[in-house]
Amino acid sequence: MPEVKLDEAAALEELTRLADELAAHDIRYFQDAAPTISDADYDALKRRNAEIEARFPHLVRDNSPSLRVGARRSESFAPVTHGVPMLSLDNAFSDADAAEFDARVRRFLRLGEETVAYTAEPKIDGLSASLRYEDGVLVQGATRGDGRVGEDVTANLRTIGEIPHRLKGKGWPAVIEVRGEVYLGHEEFARLNAAAAEAGDRTYANPRNAAAGSLRQIDPAITATRPLRFFAYAWGLASQPFAATQWEALQAFRSWGFAVTPNAQRVEGASGLLEAYAAMEAARPRLAFDIDGVVYKVDRLDWQERLGFVSRSPRWAVARKFPAERARTILEAIDIQVGRTGAVTPVARLTPVTVGGVVVVNATLHNADEIARKDVRIGDTVVVQRAGDVIPQIVEVVLDERPADSQPFVFPTHCPCSLHTLLARETTTAGVETVVRRCTGEFACPFQRIEHLKHFVSRRAFDIEGLGEKQLTAFFEEGLIREPADIFRLARNDAAMAALRERERYGETSVRNLRAAIEARRTIALDRFIFALGIRHVGETTALVLARGYGDAESFLAAMDKVADRDPEAMAELDALDQVGGAVIEAAAAYFGEDHNRRIVQDLKGQLLIQPAERPKTDTAVAGKTVVFTGSLERMTREEAKAKAESLGAKVASSVSKKTDIVVAGPGAGSKLKTAAELGLQVLTEEEWLALIA
Ligand code: IVH
Repeated sequence: MPEVKLDEAAALEELTRLADELAAHDIRYFQDAAPTISDADYDALKRRNAEIEARFPHLVRDNSPSLRVGARRSESFAPVTHGVPMLSLDNAFSDADAAEFDARVRRFLRLGEETVAYTAEPKIDGLSASLRYEDGVLVQGATRGDGRVGEDVTANLRTIGEIPHRLKGKGWPAVIEVRGEVYLGHEEFARLNAAAAEAGDRTYANPRNAAAGSLRQIDPAITATRPLRFFAYAWGLASQPFAATQWEALQAFRSWGFAVTPNAQRVEGASGLLEAYAAMEAARPRLAFDIDGVVYKVDRLDWQERLGFVSRSPRWAVARKFPAERARTILEAIDIQVGRTGAVTPVARLTPVTVGGVVVVNATLHNADEIARKDVRIGDTVVVQRAGDVIPQIVEVVLDERPADSQPFVFPTHCPCSLHTLLARETTTAGVETVVRRCTGEFACPFQRIEHLKHFVSRRAFDIEGLGEKQLTAFFEEGLIREPADIFRLARNDAAMAALRERERYGETSVRNLRAAIEARRTIALDRFIFALGIRHVGETTALVLARGYGDAESFLAAMDKVADRDPEAMAELDALDQVGGAVIEAAAAYFGEDHNRRIVQDLKGQLLIQPAERPKTDTAVAGKTVVFTGSLERMTREEAKAKAESLGAKVASSVSKKTDIVVAGPGAGSKLKTAAELGLQVLTEEEWLALIA
């Protein structure tokens, strides 16, 4: 029920239910490390709670879930910044996807007829860990965390018998981060659960949750009682090369005293990939531990290096997943959620059902067209599928089970927000209608405004402690905070702070803490600032790329104003940044094309001290230089050349101008080479360029 229609009694009832539900989920997440819903669904419950609280502020409970700010972060382990980020893998789901992976690798490397050798390793269903060895001694062990920063669980990892405290053999680099999977075998899992059940303790849903829960125990003595195991399959930082291929690396790990994944194979070409998958699927039932697919990796490390990364995953590896697990349940209701950008998402509320060991209560229905296409109706029996950490999905309706009186679902025509705006279909810049429906209320739609503000203060953005959803919503309703800059004005507004102090449940200490928390964020890193703005398609990774690309807030904002005016040079400069493509450019142009947004951003900037970005490399021959590649390159592809130059701190532009420092020209170079000559720029051959960066 949209909360505009809720009466007070129903609101109270739902808030009570939400509080219980969220508290239970918190226990499962923190104490048991065995969450039964996805983070997105958890967030949706919290959002629902906040929305109802916003309408009925006097019903906010003293122990409301909205008061537990940032509760999902573990505070028990110290943060560890990985020497090299721990990446994730792209997924492949079919033979065709696997073949396309091979084709893409060959295209990128321009291999022609040559075949590519791969390793095909089981994808272990546990949790990854990074072990830092210095001079062969284990000095630190960490969880993956967000990939960049993990949790220090050294003491717990030391209790795992298969993790050497001191590397054996020889040939290990002086400093190396060995990476792999912490997991629990089937038998060990069954024994652990049986003992827990006997003792009247709670049991774990699956071996992965049990492994995660066991590793993240505050007391290592408890971890020591859990029969955790470890397979080594990758590495991060390595002070020296120690292998020429992935296969050799696995053998090296074994010689240093690690267990490596059994059933790993070295195969050739696309056909080898398909055979390895079939073999792994056949072997799966006899394995003593859970696997959820096969990981394919390009064997040659020099090729891996050339292939590099896109966003958070390597181009040289892919995870081929086993088909998702499915179950039947009843669709009880369809709720509509409004996100930060006004996009409206229908969410299916389900009779709880276990799919692949996890209880599922919500599933995404994607959009109105999807509901219409599948003719999903309330009361239907549906097939739900869950693959890995992906949000559960509704695959199909079981028509035989459809109640006789069922009615097609009528998608709301108006936003559940107080404006009741007509829900328009989004159109692309080319004028094509998309499936996304959006509330066009923008900053007048309280849902969107509040979602924007929530994003702004969220952990990965400004991370303002004490300014959680509840406070933000309350301050919003009272008109104290309508946009980001207001937060910083509030902290310096003595009258407003005094008024806050007078308020029930907002005592002296809370006010002091809030003020300190806000002041602490007045100085902010440029990438966080950019991420916090909530530009579509600009997540943390892209924000960091933008911050590094432009260096400081002034340059970034000046460039964005030009992008909004569709200045070709500014757009080319943005396009030249690694990982920035058309979607980001369009989103930036749209965002900074809005006077409203420009004003909000400038106003905010006036309140802050924005720290310039750390430039990636300054000690290379090409750091800070603007480079243009033209003509055909023989030893590398254009994409590779660009990635390499950027990794050395150079900027790669697509057109030659006065600002260009180096033009690398291959055979067939035309007008750009001419312009370079006219401007008297430094022109290098491919060989000379390679010598320069060697
Ligand atoms: S390689 C750069 N190999 O899968 C990629 N990962 O989605 C490094 N995983 O976080 C990972 N078995 O937890 C690799 N044989 C294997 C793996 C494996 C399981 C997990 C790992 C990683 C996730 C990637």
